Amino acid sequence: MTQARQHSIQVVAHRGASEDAPEHTLAAYTKAIEDGADALECDVRLTADGHLVCVHDRRVNRTSNGRGAVSALELADLATLDFGSWRDSEESPDWRDRDLTSVLTLERLLELVADAGRPIQLAIETKHPTRWAGQVEERLLELLRRFGLDRPTPGPGAGAGGSGVGAGAPGAGRVGPGGVVRGGVELHESAVRIMSFSARSLHRIASAAPQLPTVYLMQFVSPLLRDGRLPAGSRIAGPGIRIVRNHPGYIARLHRAGHRVHVWTVNEPEDVDLCVRLGVEAIITNRPKQVLSQLGRP
Ligand code: G3P
Ligand code: CA
Repeated sequence: MTQARQHSIQVVAHRGASEDAPEHTLAAYTKAIEDGADALECDVRLTADGHLVCVHDRRVNRTSNGRGAVSALELADLATLDFGSWRDSEESPDWRDRDLTSVLTLERLLELVADAGRPIQLAIETKHPTRWAGQVEERLLELLRRFGLDRPTPGPGAGAGGSGVGAGAPGAGRVGPGGVVRGGVELHESAVRIMSFSARSLHRIASAAPQLPTVYLMQFVSPLLRDGRLPAGSRIAGPGIRIVRNHPGYIARLHRAGHRVHVWTVNEPEDVDLCVRLGVEAIITNRPKQVLSQLGRP
């Protein structure tokens, strides 16, 4: 693999540095930022009282000491739960002492990234968008607008480094509520992109905010999309690593059709090599530190 190709791949921390710290917590995202990740991935769900929180599963049972569906709980209920102790082991630091494992709102994550001191991109995945009939996307766009993140960012963008939530912001890098004026539309140069397995969710985003990049996530290749096209409203392809392993030719078809390719969840060194050989644009991984080191970016 060539050096140039290795360095142009964006490394995205999946649920934060989720191999080392409890997923979707400040502990995991802080670690990913310290590790040098170019971007952070997070799943968002709506609480019963309309807050967007970063939780993967429909229910909180697996990743906290509570029970129940996120959609049935209010933010105040979620705030009483511990989202870290399920990952405790003898080697792990005591995250709870650092107060880094309470429920993470998307708003808090945006603040963390804005204060990171370097540009970091965000790949936000809408979970269960059909249940809420447009409300997830509405709230998401509202929040991005408030942070001035519903527009593309100027700067070199793409790949290692480039634009991000902290880029282009005046002063100390915080993106204030007044927003930041940004110019130039280039897919990879947006600080934020929206991902989903739901074409309908991405279509809603594309209709309301066509300037935001959208990533269509795929677990398998639908017969309708074999030629490399994506559903209307989807601009970047997000195949799972199994698709890449089993159908490497499909990646070339996606590229020929003009789509960038962001692959999830790439944790094994041989899969990283495969992604580099196929020239994908982003690798989404639970192990940002190891992947960066493999790519020669320790
Ligand atoms: O980054 C895409 C990937 O996160 C999709 O799968 O189940 O981990 O949300 P999942
Ligand atoms: Ca996800």
